[in-house]
Amino acid sequence: MSDGFQCVASTNDVADPGSMLVEVDDRLVVLIHAAGHWYALDDVCTHDGGPLSEGPVDAEQATIACPRHGAKFDAKTGAAVSMPATHATVAHEVKVDGDQVSVRLIDN
Ligand code: FES
Repeated sequence: MSDGFQCVASTNDVADPGSMLVEVDDRLVVLIHAAGHWYALDDVCTHDGGPLSEGPVDAEQATIACPRHGAKFDAKTGAAVSMPATHATVAHEVKVDGDQVSVRLIDN
């Protein structure tokens, strides 16, 4: 039985605020923990492919910043909220069940 969610981490694995790179069906996804909420985005900055999982999480704004040139993305929607990125990255679904954090890919 599968609802498409794949367990990728334990709630203890990621600080708040913090993030972790996970792999879901060969796709690199950054799991984000911010102010008690969980989010998952493609680990790809839409400016020039920077690894979002290596950038800082802002818990108050629920954003993650690209380590290369500083573009920020909305952790919930994947929207680019600051330059130099202008396009959203893909946001995936996250479910927390007990201490298990699961992700379901959303294809764009
Ligand atoms: S590659 Fe991410 S801001 Fe340039």
